[in-house]
Amino acid sequence: MIRIGNIDIADFPILLAPMEDVSDPPFRHVCKMFGADIMYTEFISSEGLIRDASKSVKKLDFEEFERPIGIQIFGHDIESMIKAAEYAERAQPDIIDINYGCPVKKVASKGAGSGIMNNIPKMVAMTEAVVKAVKLPVTVKTRLGYDENRKDIVEIAERLQDVGIEALTIHGRLRTTRSSVPADWSLIGEVKRNPRMHIPIFGNGDVVDGPQPNISRIRMVLMD
Ligand SMILES: Cc1cc2nc3c(=O)[nH]c(=O)nc-3n(C[C@H](O)[C@H](O)[C@H](O)COP(=O)(O)O)c2cc1C
Repeated sequence: MIRIGNIDIADFPILLAPMEDVSDPPFRHVCKMFGADIMYTEFISSEGLIRDASKSVKKLDFEEFERPIGIQIFGHDIESMIKAAEYAERAQPDIIDINYGCPVKKVASKGAGSGIMNNIPKMVAMTEAVVKAVKLPVTVKTRLGYDENRKDIVEIAERLQDVGIEALTIHGRLRTTRSSVPADWSLIGEVKRNPRMHIPIFGNGDVVDGPQPNISRIRMVLMD
């Protein structure tokens, strides 16, 4: 059994990766029917959320059927991230997830998403601030490192665990790696084997199949 906060999940769970403009409620509904164990919303801008931007607020929507579900937020400013996490918590998801993985220029160049991997002390401070701001478990999704010379994920994983995250998803690419380049799972394995790590570690990147879905559960859901 794997535990995230007080959420129990079966061993080897399948998580639906958050995908902007893809993992909306109808898409998640279908993925849940086919056996997704945990799902996340699309990433939500902290700056948008705290200003009540309708596009951001709408992304908080989910159905009870989707639980356990995490709301994913991103941003470059610690105060805004604290307020956004509190805002997201009021939507009563099961998890608050922080995005430290987005490589898109308009996000990363401001120091949000994977851009924050350039400043590990800030990444740790932001994470600690969010963990302290909410009662829900906080998880993080990030990459192997900022660039080829800074594959810092082993150190980052320890430091984020030390400030209280309850699970970590590692996308096996750097901020600078194109998505056409195969994901590198070797460092994910190193984090997983690190005896200091005790939180669940999820690998991400090039996952194209998995265990067969539980057909009886799908039939039950379809008949509901
Ligand atoms: C269209 C699209 C949108 C994405 N949006 C997000 C997002 O909002 N948050 C996030 O953490 N990752 C996002 N990602 C990254 C995925 O969650 C995942 O890490 C990545 O696709 C894994 O690599 P793979 O495509 O090789 O499996 C997105 C990816 C795609 C293709």
